Amino acid sequence: MVIVMAPGASDEETDAVVSIVAKAGGSAFISRGVSRTIVGLVGDIDRFQTLGLDGKPGVAEVLRVSVPYKLVSRENHPTRSVIRVGGVPIGPGTMTLIAGPCAVETPQQTLAAARMAQRAGAALLRGGAYKPRTSPYAFQGLGEDGLRILADVREAVGMPVVTEVVDAHDVPLVSRYADMLQVGTRNMQNFALLQAVGGCGKPVLLKRGLNATIEEWLMAAEYVAQRGNLDIVLCERGIRTFDTTTRNTLDISAVPVAQGLTHLPVIIDPSHSGGRRELVLPLSRAAMAVGADGLIIDVHPAPEEALCDGPQALVADDLAELAHAVRAFPPMIGRQLA
Ligand code: E4P
Ligand code: PEP
Repeated sequence: MVIVMAPGASDEETDAVVSIVAKAGGSAFISRGVSRTIVGLVGDIDRFQTLGLDGKPGVAEVLRVSVPYKLVSRENHPTRSVIRVGGVPIGPGTMTLIAGPCAVETPQQTLAAARMAQRAGAALLRGGAYKPRTSPYAFQGLGEDGLRILADVREAVGMPVVTEVVDAHDVPLVSRYADMLQVGTRNMQNFALLQAVGGCGKPVLLKRGLNATIEEWLMAAEYVAQRGNLDIVLCERGIRTFDTTTRNTLDISAVPVAQGLTHLPVIIDPSHSGGRRELVLPLSRAAMAVGADGLIIDVHPAPEEALCDGPQALVADDLAELAHAVRAFPPMIGRQLA
């Protein structure tokens, strides 16, 4: 059983809940987040249900759940959540396009990519200042200089910024610049990082691990939620299978399956899954048709010069088709482009 305290609940109110549970023979574990405090209960659940915990001062919700992911489960939170990133909604009713360069390379390249993204219909700008690379000799990102470029481009174009954090120690720094923190596929089970972003006070984009089951992905989200941060968006970005024709295999069924299990929004990354520019549009159409709450797409003004993932970046010529698709498809399933 999990108790979610109301935003603004006092420490005394939380302590009162803990003491009621202790008197009933149970144990309570408190996670204090920036915006919410969560109390996990261990013991006789039937007994806890007689304690009237939902009526105690400061208690927002009492969740009794049978699946191992409790806070992110749809079982006790049937309504699908809308997560806002700098005011931009991601969730049911809308289809949100996030686009931008894979990596922040220069101010000019980032600004050009942001303008391309905006013309295509993107409401949010993506771009990596910290790049998780297979090779230690590959471009690792510009670090804080990259974050400054993203912040300047946000000023120039007015798009909130989504950027990856790869190390728990960098979470406070990245949170100062970003509107949403991304945890990439390679770090989906980096539990220290998940806990750190759980306490960062900003929405989190959690990509599915290359080899992760949907349950493992939702348990990773639970780590973030358990620290009091329920502003999580899940991203299916392809998994590793026997087939090497594409960079990864997009698990399109992950969208409706995950949406049935969790109240969190689920988006698709057709760039990193397909790994090739010509696959981005067909995979985006498939994602929208299956009900994805958004898309995150790489664009680059000169992909032949890109320092990371050039072959999958859309170029100016591709954008008219993308712009058409993201406006035409969502209304067919009762959504609007955010
Ligand atoms: C992208 O954004 C990642 O950093 C990239 O896909 C890493 O892949 P690679 O280092 O194997 O090129
Ligand atoms: C990215 O989006 O920049 C990225 C590194 O993606 P992934 O973690 O899915 O490989």
